[in-house]
Amino acid sequence: MCGIVGYIGNKNCVPLLIEGLKRLEYRGYDSAGIGIIDEGISFIVKNKGKVSELQNRLEVLNLKANIGLGHTRWATHGIPNEINAHPHQNEEGTLFLIHNGIIENYKTIKKVLQQNGYKFQSETDTEVLAHLIDSFLRKGFDIFKATQLALQEVDGTYGLAVIYAKEPDRIIAARKGSPLIIGVGQNENFIASDVSAVLAHTKNIIYLEDGEIALITENDYQVKTIHNEEVIKEVEEISMTLDEIDKGGYPHFMLKEIMEQPESLRNSIRGRLLIDEGTAKLGGLENIIDDLLDVDRFLITACGTSWHAGLVAEYMFEQFIRVPTEVEYASEFRYRNPIINKKDAVFFISQSGETADTLAALRETKLRGGIALGVCNVVGSSIARESDSGVYIHAGPEIGVASTKAFTSQLIVLALITLLIARRKNLSIENGREIAKAISKIPDQVAEILKLNNKIEEIADEFKDAKNFLYLGRGYNFPVALEGALKLKEISYIHAEGYPAAEMKHGPIALIDENMPVVFIAPKDATYDKIISNIQEVKARGGRIIAIASEGDDEIKDMVEHVIYIPQTVAMLKPILSVVPLQLLAYHIAVKKGLNVDQPRNLAKSVTVE
Ligand code: F6R
Repeated sequence: MCGIVGYIGNKNCVPLLIEGLKRLEYRGYDSAGIGIIDEGISFIVKNKGKVSELQNRLEVLNLKANIGLGHTRWATHGIPNEINAHPHQNEEGTLFLIHNGIIENYKTIKKVLQQNGYKFQSETDTEVLAHLIDSFLRKGFDIFKATQLALQEVDGTYGLAVIYAKEPDRIIAARKGSPLIIGVGQNENFIASDVSAVLAHTKNIIYLEDGEIALITENDYQVKTIHNEEVIKEVEEISMTLDEIDKGGYPHFMLKEIMEQPESLRNSIRGRLLIDEGTAKLGGLENIIDDLLDVDRFLITACGTSWHAGLVAEYMFEQFIRVPTEVEYASEFRYRNPIINKKDAVFFISQSGETADTLAALRETKLRGGIALGVCNVVGSSIARESDSGVYIHAGPEIGVASTKAFTSQLIVLALITLLIARRKNLSIENGREIAKAISKIPDQVAEILKLNNKIEEIADEFKDAKNFLYLGRGYNFPVALEGALKLKEISYIHAEGYPAAEMKHGPIALIDENMPVVFIAPKDATYDKIISNIQEVKARGGRIIAIASEGDDEIKDMVEHVIYIPQTVAMLKPILSVVPLQLLAYHIAVKKGLNVDQPRNLAKSVTVE
């Protein structure tokens, strides 16, 4: 979703802002812009489309400045075009600002401003902020105070940065519901919506909290609340490296992230697996483990791919911990007046740790007294910080919009959580050891599956023109069917459905004919015989079948058109293996269709609005 970067210091900010915006491209956007102040005059350059187009225009203009803001916009209010792109200005062009989030009461504010003579250029909610702040400037307040007062009138969410040409030595930045950080440098400071935009220049980061507003100059920063209380902030040194956020020779981030899964999975389990004791060690849950042994119920809420990971965890928790577990979309959970009490432990699974619905569900849970547990990838993200306890998945930065390595790391960490709690309840040491050993083998097994890349690419070539796909699985592999279908539709724009295989008879079987590819996730497990019957049903109706099956299963070969073999492991871990060929299949189909796999249309990496 929208990206923010800002600079104040002794260098020319224009190339720095462009570089920062390029680092933020992965979040998904449809227009881009920058604003700078040069000798007291503001210049805004913005366009629909890519940052590279903005860069070309800026090269011709040859602008230079020591202070500026850059933005990538993902449209919410108003179509993607130059006028709606950020920055937005006041009428006299002395103030400009960039904004992520949604101003919910913008219509009311706009009406009042229009009654007071303000004229609007764009259809955005953001533009009201520029005029609202201006209205306080006109009353004689300085830019910091004017922004503070304006924000007191605003409902909704914002990550916001403002520059005022009449006070050209400062950036004002504020946060509520949309992440914003300050990057602290030497004779320069940055602001950004995520650390990747500033990582090339500093690793010293201040995370703004909701309701905070910062005044940032070349050599200093000061943070208060929007109600003017002083706040002392800590500077945190982050460990992420630039290599981690580069493509590393791969044509796309998505392929790089699929291919680095053996390593990301190793990182997720490093130091956490106690094979001899048949259990796991998770520092983030130590302070709360006794409470977790005593809960009446587990709830899991998340969105998209993370929700699919939650569905797998439901099977894991109920099989091994033997505590009732429910999984729900965060967007539904937050609005349905959920019944939660202090003996409910609620897991919030989120790669970004910033998904608006998941964050809101977490806050709702805490209000109602439940135990809130984060399972996040991005260190220092809002969900990670606001949870009572939690576990990082340590997958490393995931830049491709379609989630791949974060999913497999979520699954392996959820397996560790299962092992830890189940062993403290009634899982035997022998069974614990069997699972722990199986977990330790997963990274190498994923590496084996990745060797099938060429074969999967050939299959992709054969099916790239299909109009529909069906993905079917049972038990632990039903959520994998959902995830396989989601991967395909989001990057290839082919309509795809995931279903529990047995449900097929209750409707989707009507779709099956020779034009319908059906992907069966059919490894050897307790439901194998049943899924073989489902394969026969599809075959009898002329459907074209691709199967993901267990190594050594020769029987399935004769029933299907293509079979992709995955190594043997325990049932609870099979989704980590079975999803990998599906990630590659979706990737290759999208590439063969000539699509932008890293930034698919209409999608954003981090969904910070509802
Ligand atoms: C799909 C995908 C999305 C995210 C969803 C939740 O590939 O990436 O469905 O899984 O938007 O995002 P996080 O995990 O950041 O909360």
